[in-house]
Amino acid sequence: MSEIQILKFYTNENGFAPELLDVAKLFFSHTEFLTVNESTIADIVVKSETKNCVYSCFASYNDVNFDNKIILNILWTKLEEKRYKKRCIKSALYECLKKVFNKQPPWGSLTGIRPVKLAYEIAENEDADFRAVFAEKFDVSPSKITLVEQIINSQKNLRTIDDTFIDVYVGIPFCVSRCSYCSFTSGVISKLIKHVQPYVNNLITEIKTTLSFLSEYGYKIRNVYFGGGTPTSLSASDLDLILSCFDFPVTEFTVEAGRPDTIDDEKLSVLANHGVNRISVNPQSFNQVTLDKIGRNHSVKEIYEKFFLARKYDFIVNMDLIAGLPDENEQMFRYSVDEAVSLCPENITIHTLALKRGSLLKEQENLTANSEEDVIKMVEYAREKLSSNGYEPYYLYRQKYVSSNLENVGYCKKGTQCRYNIDIMEETTSIAACGCNAISKRVFSAQNRIERQANPKDVITYNNDLPLYLARKKDLFKK
Ligand SMILES: C[S@@+](CC[C@H](N)C(=O)[O-])C[C@H]1O[C@@H](n2cnc3c(N)ncnc32)[C@H](O)[C@@H]1O
Ligand code: SF4
Repeated sequence: MSEIQILKFYTNENGFAPELLDVAKLFFSHTEFLTVNESTIADIVVKSETKNCVYSCFASYNDVNFDNKIILNILWTKLEEKRYKKRCIKSALYECLKKVFNKQPPWGSLTGIRPVKLAYEIAENEDADFRAVFAEKFDVSPSKITLVEQIINSQKNLRTIDDTFIDVYVGIPFCVSRCSYCSFTSGVISKLIKHVQPYVNNLITEIKTTLSFLSEYGYKIRNVYFGGGTPTSLSASDLDLILSCFDFPVTEFTVEAGRPDTIDDEKLSVLANHGVNRISVNPQSFNQVTLDKIGRNHSVKEIYEKFFLARKYDFIVNMDLIAGLPDENEQMFRYSVDEAVSLCPENITIHTLALKRGSLLKEQENLTANSEEDVIKMVEYAREKLSSNGYEPYYLYRQKYVSSNLENVGYCKKGTQCRYNIDIMEETTSIAACGCNAISKRVFSAQNRIERQANPKDVITYNNDLPLYLARKKDLFKK
């Protein structure tokens, strides 16, 4: 990330302002828009105009200018025209900044969290080869194009478009302690103790009501996913009560246990008894010094112990690792990847550290951030090591505020893809979500449209206002 900040930024295309900001963030650490045309004092000016069916976009920074043009097609729908104009204006800014800084971000000018979904859309809606569009229009590096291609191959026959299927998500917004890098809305369970029992009771009501109207409307439930937070921060008996709502078989049933210090034999046997067939035991790092620094509050030894405990059951096990954790050099990250691979879990997910507002880490100043080059090398090492040990990439997503604008990639041994992760990333299946901060999503595939309904983010509002949110969700899924 460049040290230089954009203090003044002007565009006459305010509708595309968020996307232009995302492009600017590929090169600058801070951006700010001018809302009125003060182009003479703006550091960056991006302007567009349409003349005789030609849409021209100009970007200028210091003495470097770049202009980009597209011929408007009269057959385009409004939506298509917007899509092509957006690409045109983004790439004008991108190419201008690329010239100034002489740098090629791995994903080129591509912003947004779902590059694989975009690849499918290019193939399906534009009848074009996504590889050519990624390379020529977005300047995506060959390595990332190959990654997307591998993921599409891995998703074959798993990405299904059928609006009668639905997945169910259940959010548990509690953790045993707060990890410094995390910005998920989740509270420390010991501090929220008086809200836990009402939450469990409300959640059971919400799940039962949701399952009942989904069945009334004719949906077929395929995958169930418990996430958070840390679902296993609840007691075995509370887990037992909640899981009892799911007394029917589903294809895939995941509980993102996650923190090794929340897993014990009693909880694992409750999960197994209720048909859970996939769990996470997340190291994040195999270096004790890092675990201590990021407030994980568990030991490396505990990661191995809980992993082997999970092996007593028949679960598909996932392990999350993060590249770019504070004060971790490439060698330390390589060690974590090697250790995870040596344990042979079915899934390994490689995240790249995102420094987000709301995380403790963002406020800490005495930690050494990794250079972009180092994080790129870490992610590349993981990819090579995992593929040479029989893991294939099967889903990916990008987040904001991530070093080098990299990605998070889920890897799996053949045939162990998590279908829920594919569904949520590629957005081909509706999701009925229960619990705090859970977002329900209804996919209308014929109209290429998605409607969403969010539950409250905090436990207290959730406990007070559940009936209101439940009624809205029922409306969303009404046939
Ligand atoms: C919702 S979290 C829950 C997992 C579980 N509570 C745990 O801590 O093991 C899912 C995963 O997101 C990743 N994650 C969370 N915050 C992140 C951040 N700031 N940057 C990169 N990855 C992050 C971690 O790998 C984490 O395991
Ligand atoms: S990483 Fe997991 S355990 Fe840590 S605060 Fe976030 S959700 Fe909780």
